[in-house]
Amino acid sequence: MRKPFIAGNWKLNLLTEEAVALAKKLALAFKGMDNIELAVAPVFTVLYAVAKALKNSNIGLAGQDVYWENSGAFTGEVGPESLKDAGCGYVIIGHSERREYFGETDQGVNKKLKAAIAAGLIPICCIGEKLEEREQEKTLKVIDRQMRGALMSIPRAEALKITIAYEPVWAIGTGKTATPGQAQEVHAFIRKLLAEIYDQEAADSIRIQYGGSVKPENIKELMAQPDIDGALVGGASLKAESFIALVKNSLP
Ligand code: PGA
Repeated sequence: MRKPFIAGNWKLNLLTEEAVALAKKLALAFKGMDNIELAVAPVFTVLYAVAKALKNSNIGLAGQDVYWENSGAFTGEVGPESLKDAGCGYVIIGHSERREYFGETDQGVNKKLKAAIAAGLIPICCIGEKLEEREQEKTLKVIDRQMRGALMSIPRAEALKITIAYEPVWAIGTGKTATPGQAQEVHAFIRKLLAEIYDQEAADSIRIQYGGSVKPENIKELMAQPDIDGALVGGASLKAESFIALVKNSLP
């Protein structure tokens, strides 16, 4: 059984006071909920303060990106051990905004996944096609390339620790969600790829989140799909009311 996993990606939003206030509200609302795994991904500079606010809660903390080295002359970068030091147990890797605006490549994603796993972080590895790729019916080809690139030479035992997040780029922050059918089709394809790369048992145990305009109103039908195991949520994770409603609505 794959435990549902919902993570809030706060992106470049919320300063310390707002972030801590939101974290405290979530910790209170989700207290005792043990049938779902939860995490939030704040801006690097507020991680430590949010970690303190989430202490003794059931909400994990995630970095929004990570570098593949732990130390050295890499000005501006944050390594896996630094994330752990700030209180993180998770890290988002390969988000489409990193790929689109900051030159993230499949090879970089692969190196980051390996470094994160080596440090004991749970990676959320994002993949997804752009609008023109979908329109040209290249979706599955793009997903195939991103998946194989991300997982290159990662052994099975390590791959089992990864969560995949399928986020069609055209659905992120646009209010346009993939229909549950569109999302399920790609999720099933990702699971088939995992079975090909590893084996069916590994494919059956790796969680695949959906991301892209997930809201309290559409989470239920997405979660009802057999291969959707959770969500990576941007906009709707920035307000306590909507994230709490979304998480509650995700449960059967
Ligand atoms: P969104 O963002 O929910 O605002 O569409 C999702 C994401 O980028 O992870």
